[in-house]
Amino acid sequence: MWTLASDVDGTLTGDRDALDRLAGRLRGLREADELFLMLSTGRRLEQVIAGLSEEGLPEPDAVLCQVGTEIYRPPLTPDSEPMIEWRHQLLGEYSRDEALSFLEGIEGLVMQADAFNTELKTSCFLDRCPQPDAAAEEIRRRVKPYADRYQVVWSSGRDLDILPASSGKGKAIRFLVERQGLASDRVVVAGDTGNDATMFVEFLKGVVVANAQQELLDLADSLVGGDVYLARNPYAAGVEEGLEHFGVLNGSDS
Ligand code: GLC
Repeated sequence: MWTLASDVDGTLTGDRDALDRLAGRLRGLREADELFLMLSTGRRLEQVIAGLSEEGLPEPDAVLCQVGTEIYRPPLTPDSEPMIEWRHQLLGEYSRDEALSFLEGIEGLVMQADAFNTELKTSCFLDRCPQPDAAAEEIRRRVKPYADRYQVVWSSGRDLDILPASSGKGKAIRFLVERQGLASDRVVVAGDTGNDATMFVEFLKGVVVANAQQELLDLADSLVGGDVYLARNPYAAGVEEGLEHFGVLNGSDS
């Protein structure tokens, strides 16, 4: 049994034909009980559910939403509640007011919509700041003394999230891997931006799609001991190529 934990936007989505082909192959593996599929995303659950019917996303065994601060298991409905153990664990270390205080007075900062600001996630845009990277650095500097309770996720030169220190995509996947008794050395992660970085830090096998942001390529470069595959193809075709590289999918099937 393999586990694939894949980001959604820009990793699975971006080329519908490629996604349809990959989704078909992943369905085959799941039907043969050879794959546990996690979608690991910054989206809200409703957006993932819509994506299953409208964007051809593959049917998952678990969905990690809002950058690993919410975990859902099927059946997935708009009323599904996130997994309570995960939520309680994170609520214990996170204060929304304190998280907001780290953002005070940053020139040009724009808060993201309420739907992306939750009890466990504080998210803003920095692309209108005079120097977005410097603004992100300043927020990191403010959060650093509280690193036991908060982490900063900076992606795409635009999105900044302050999350509970024990959350994020990588740790949420780890939690599920342990809970489901899945083999950690048979986990493959796939992504394209900075909010995927924690997956590559937490697990050794990773696929970076060809359209990835520089921030993830830089991280992939700096990882020691991991087995990060830089795909030649973008989007779902890159994920497919990576899964063939790791032997999850058979290269001759395509
Ligand atoms: C997704 C989320 C957004 C977050 C970003 C980066 O776009 O919707 O809230 O800031 O991912 O993690």
